[in-house]
Amino acid sequence: MSLPQRITGAIDELRGKTRDPLCAYLYDLPALELRVRAMRAVLPTGCELFYAAKANPEVAILRTLAPLVDGFEAASGGELAWLHEHCPDQPLIFGGPGKLDSELEAALDCRIDAFHVESVHELRRLARLAAVRGLRAPVLLRLNLKLAEAPDSRLVMGGKPTPFGLDEDALDEALALLRQEPALELKGLHFHLLSHQLDVAAHLQLIRAYCQTFRRICREQDMQLPLLNVGGGMGINYQDPAGSFDWSRFCQGLAEVLAEQGMADTRIRFEIGRFISAACGYYVMQVLDIKRNHGHYFAVARGGTHHFRTPAAQGHDHPFVVLRGDRAPDLQDQAVTLVGQLCTPKDVMARQQPVKELAVDDLLVFTHAGAYAWNISHQKFLMHEPPQMVFLTE
Ligand SMILES: Cc1ncc(COP(=O)(O)O)c(C=O)c1O
Repeated sequence: MSLPQRITGAIDELRGKTRDPLCAYLYDLPALELRVRAMRAVLPTGCELFYAAKANPEVAILRTLAPLVDGFEAASGGELAWLHEHCPDQPLIFGGPGKLDSELEAALDCRIDAFHVESVHELRRLARLAAVRGLRAPVLLRLNLKLAEAPDSRLVMGGKPTPFGLDEDALDEALALLRQEPALELKGLHFHLLSHQLDVAAHLQLIRAYCQTFRRICREQDMQLPLLNVGGGMGINYQDPAGSFDWSRFCQGLAEVLAEQGMADTRIRFEIGRFISAACGYYVMQVLDIKRNHGHYFAVARGGTHHFRTPAAQGHDHPFVVLRGDRAPDLQDQAVTLVGQLCTPKDVMARQQPVKELAVDDLLVFTHAGAYAWNISHQKFLMHEPPQMVFLTE
């Protein structure tokens, strides 16, 4: 794997600039822009692309994406306030379990595009709060589908017992409430059953099931709904990034599925996180020490899972590139475990990885660190300094 010239050039500039060894996140914003443009270029007509801000809510990322996406998804009052502050003109949608009254009120005040309602109780609360304001709250009901075959990936949020969305058994009660409540406006249904999807055929089959359910419910309930949100979940293959979800092939198949299912009058909305922002982020750690313990080599580098929890959260060996410094190698053709500065054996970025050469002061550059990385890390643990944050523009 090689690094883009923009990244190696920027790292060269950072090297030696501070007295302490280097530890930084770098974000390639032009690459992010290119990626989303390419994603949009093949998206079938009638489909919308929202960005799920939980993947990475850095302001520079949001501002890069704002002109290119149809809006942003927030999964908490905090995200909603952040998005409203930094991208005030963008359509916002608000999902996630356990919403507070104060968060629903703030969302009503922001005139968001849609509430993804997770339960009948939440629907009642939203109706009450909207009525007090004299507003009609736009609603998508999030459903936890019963499928003939449960979806399969490393992170499944539905199709089985989970706290997410309404059971289909609760649908009649929810729809009755929606019919009688002038403060609520049902605009569509929402499904997000999994993340880390790598299999295009399986995902097309899932979207087919979403469309069939959507149409069946509309038919049975004698209603027309303009919007179907099909969530996100397209996966990055961290062991072999070239084998990540094939978006172009998916979009070709998607056009066929939508035609076959007669969805021409329904807007299809995606809310994607990881697949949009993962590849634009790099986490750089300078090697502080190399040692051998019980027959294994360890490279201790500046930073760790308190900045970059992705490998620990996923339980995987994160892909990386070694940028050699000037020193003669301490290791040659050896397997080495890459760890951070924390006093826990869980602070591991990658285990027993073959390296051609490695020396103290070399740089370990972890790729695909732009999603669920810095923002999911336990940044306060041990009170180490934060990494430098570098946002590269053209
Ligand atoms: C409801 C919902 N939508 C969208 C996403 C984004 O998923 P991903 O980052 O896998 O695309 C998530 C992730 O947890 C989610 O829970």
